[in-house]
Amino acid sequence: MTGICKGRVAIVTGAGRGLGREHALELARQGAKVVVNDLGTSLDGIVEASGPAHDVVDLIRSMGGEAVANGADVADFEQARGLVRQAVDTFGGLDILVNNAGFVRDRMLVNTSEEEWDAVIRVHLKGHFAPLRHAAEYWRAEAKAGRTPDARVINTSSGAGLQGSVGQASYSAAKAGIAGLTLVAAHELARYGVTVNAIAPSARTRMTEGAFAEAMAAPESGFDAMDPANVSPVVAWLASPGSREVTGRVIEIEGGRICIEEGWNHGPAQDAGRRWEAAAVGEAVTALLQKAAAPEPVYGA
Ligand SMILES: NC(=O)c1ccc[n+]([C@@H]2O[C@H](COP(=O)([O-])OP(=O)(O)OC[C@H]3O[C@@H](n4cnc5c(N)ncnc54)[C@H](O)[C@@H]3O)[C@@H](O)[C@H]2O)c1
Repeated sequence: MTGICKGRVAIVTGAGRGLGREHALELARQGAKVVVNDLGTSLDGIVEASGPAHDVVDLIRSMGGEAVANGADVADFEQARGLVRQAVDTFGGLDILVNNAGFVRDRMLVNTSEEEWDAVIRVHLKGHFAPLRHAAEYWRAEAKAGRTPDARVINTSSGAGLQGSVGQASYSAAKAGIAGLTLVAAHELARYGVTVNAIAPSARTRMTEGAFAEAMAAPESGFDAMDPANVSPVVAWLASPGSREVTGRVIEIEGGRICIEEGWNHGPAQDAGRRWEAAAVGEAVTALLQKAAAPEPVYGA
């Protein structure tokens, strides 16, 4: 198959359904060989089926592409190591890691249990770290052996992590952490020929059926803005050699709209040149807040 990722080897986590499935199919259409990872969990993270990855592999093969299934839990450190090893052993290398797997346990903060918090933080944050850590080790070894990679990592953040989302404290915290992880990884891995970016997608999947209920009906124009397949061309381009100069960025994609997210910036500041008196802080901060840009609204507020 030909395309902007021709001959490249990709891992897509959580690729059995939803956005990950569309990323895997688009990468295959663009010529990549794909390791289709999915543990097969319910929306709230209960393991129930290993089938969805195999279905996507069958689909890619029926299109004339190359793919293999992987059933690792991405947040299990050793299973994530096996995922990276499977790509290298099967296809002879690794060029693209799309970290996408995850689930939600939406609750108001005051009702969130310790177990719910841990599960959501684990699957997103550790589920990004573990494959990235093992892929980075592989790419560092390649670079040291004189075979400098031209590799790409595409992480999955969310507007919930960037602007905040009522009822999603654990998920928002994890997705904000992924944005921070992306910044650090971009700088640390640049020397090994690896770029690291994140997307903040919006699409209709089982995860968002409730939130995007009004957008469920097919629009009269024929363009379904909430189709998850709309997000995948941006992922494919970020995965391609053509995006070499882009790293450490978070890009929001919804329908046909691409938006560069601008993160935390240093805003108005006042340096007293000494330790502040507590009683004087209020006046100073109030004055600075008047000069600062107002934060964007939190989703659901
Ligand atoms: N749908 C949206 O609008 C939206 C918005 C922002 C961010 N996201 C993010 O996009 C990603 C994909 O979400 P989606 O909407 O396609 O959801 P989805 O539930 O349709 O797909 C997620 C997939 O990940 C798999 N998975 C879960 N835990 C796993 C694990 N430990 N190891 C391997 N696979 C695992 C599930 O089996 C499932 O197939 C998630 O990270 C989500 O947080 C989605």
